[in-house]
Amino acid sequence: MHQIYSAISHFIDKREVESLNRQLISAKPINAREIEIDEKRYVNFSSNDYLGLRYHPKLIEAAKSCIDEYGTGSGASRLVTGNFDLYAKAEQKIAAWKNREAALIFASGYQCNTSVLASLFDKNFLGEEPLIFSDKLIHASMHQGCKLAGIKQIRFNHNDITHLSTLLEKYKDDKRPKFILTESVFSMDGDIAPLDGLYALRDLHDAFLIVDEAHAAGVFGDNGNGLAHKADLIIGTCGKALGCFGAYVACDQKIKDFLINHCGGLIYSTALPPSAIAAIEAAVDLMPSLDSERKHVITLAQNFRQQLDEVGYHTGQSQSQIVPMIIGDADKTVQFSDSLKDGSFWAGAIRPPTVPQGTSRIRFAFSAAHTESDVANLIQHIITNKESIAA
Ligand SMILES: Cc1ncc(COP(=O)(O)O)c(C=O)c1O
Repeated sequence: MHQIYSAISHFIDKREVESLNRQLISAKPINAREIEIDEKRYVNFSSNDYLGLRYHPKLIEAAKSCIDEYGTGSGASRLVTGNFDLYAKAEQKIAAWKNREAALIFASGYQCNTSVLASLFDKNFLGEEPLIFSDKLIHASMHQGCKLAGIKQIRFNHNDITHLSTLLEKYKDDKRPKFILTESVFSMDGDIAPLDGLYALRDLHDAFLIVDEAHAAGVFGDNGNGLAHKADLIIGTCGKALGCFGAYVACDQKIKDFLINHCGGLIYSTALPPSAIAAIEAAVDLMPSLDSERKHVITLAQNFRQQLDEVGYHTGQSQSQIVPMIIGDADKTVQFSDSLKDGSFWAGAIRPPTVPQGTSRIRFAFSAAHTESDVANLIQHIITNKESIAA
C-alpha cells in the first residue's frame, strides 16, 4: 500500500483523538434564515450571508436572465476568450462602490488571496524578498499566499499596534519593500482592526497596506463599502454579504494591470460564470438601499453580545455581526454546539487549527434575515443549557 494511506490514517486518528476531525454534512437551504439537515429545520447562525441577499429577487433575476443569454459557463480564462463585456461593467461598479480607481474579479476569496499575495510578494519580480508584517489572526488564504511566495512572515500580535510598531522599528533601516497584512473585521473573532494606527505606521515606514474586507464589505461603511478606505489594496469576497460567489481586489489601475500580467489565479483559471457576475453586479447595485438591513444585523449582534456577557460568557472583542462564544475546550464546544442543535439552532463549533489552541468557540454569525425573536430564543436556550458547558 502506498505510504500516503498510512500517513492519512495517522492524521485522521490523531484528529479523532483530539475531537478535531471534520466531516462534510449534507445541508439543504430553506431560505436565508433557515437550513434543513437530516430532515430537521434549524435557524442558521453559521452563514456569512449577512444581509440575507442570497434569495433576493433582483439577484436571482439577474443571474437567471444572464444564463439565458450567456449559458452556464464562461468557457475560458479571461485572457483567452472568457472576458465578456459584463466583467468590465461589474468591475467598474465595484471600483466606484469602493472609491478606487480599479477592481479585478477573482474566482473566490481564497483563490484571490493566495494568488494575489503570491504575485505581489514574488521576489523575482520585486528583485528581493519583501518584509511581510502580518496580524497573527489573518485568514488561512493569506498565509497560503505568503507560503506560495516563499515568504516567512513577521507576525504581530493580534490588533496590537504597539507590537507592530516595535517590529517595524527593528527593520527601519532595511530597504526591502515592506507590506502590512490584516483583515478589517476578523472572521473568527468579529473584532475590528485599528485601522487609523495601521495607516499611521504604514505612512511612517513607507509600507504597503493590504486589508481583507471579507467580513466588513456590505455590512460596514457608507453604502456598505467597508472600513479600510485608506488601505493600498483591498481584498473582498462576494460570497458573504453580497450573497453571491467570487471575489475582487480594489486597487489602483497600475496594480490591476500588473495582476492581469502576473497573477496566476487570474491568468490560468476559467473566468467566473457570467451568471455569477450578473448577481455580483445586482448585489453592488443594491448596496445603497440596505441601510436598515445593516442596522438590523448590527443591533441583533449587539443585543446578543450584551446578553451573553450578562450571563458570564466571553465574546472576546467582537464589535460586528460575528460573535464568538468562547468556550476554550474543543470537546465542550462540540457538546454545546450539539445542544444548540437540539434547540433547532445551527451554529458551528470552531476548533484548532482554525483558531488558536484553547480558544474553541461557537461562532455566531448574524444576518439581516434573523428576527429579534430568533435571537431571544437563542439566548434563552443558551441560558437554559448553561450547565452543560460548565460540567
Ligand atoms: C477573511 C477571509 N478572507 C477570505 C476568505 C475566503 O473567501 P471565499 O469564501 O470567497 O473563498 C474568507 C472565508 O471565510 C475569509 O474569512
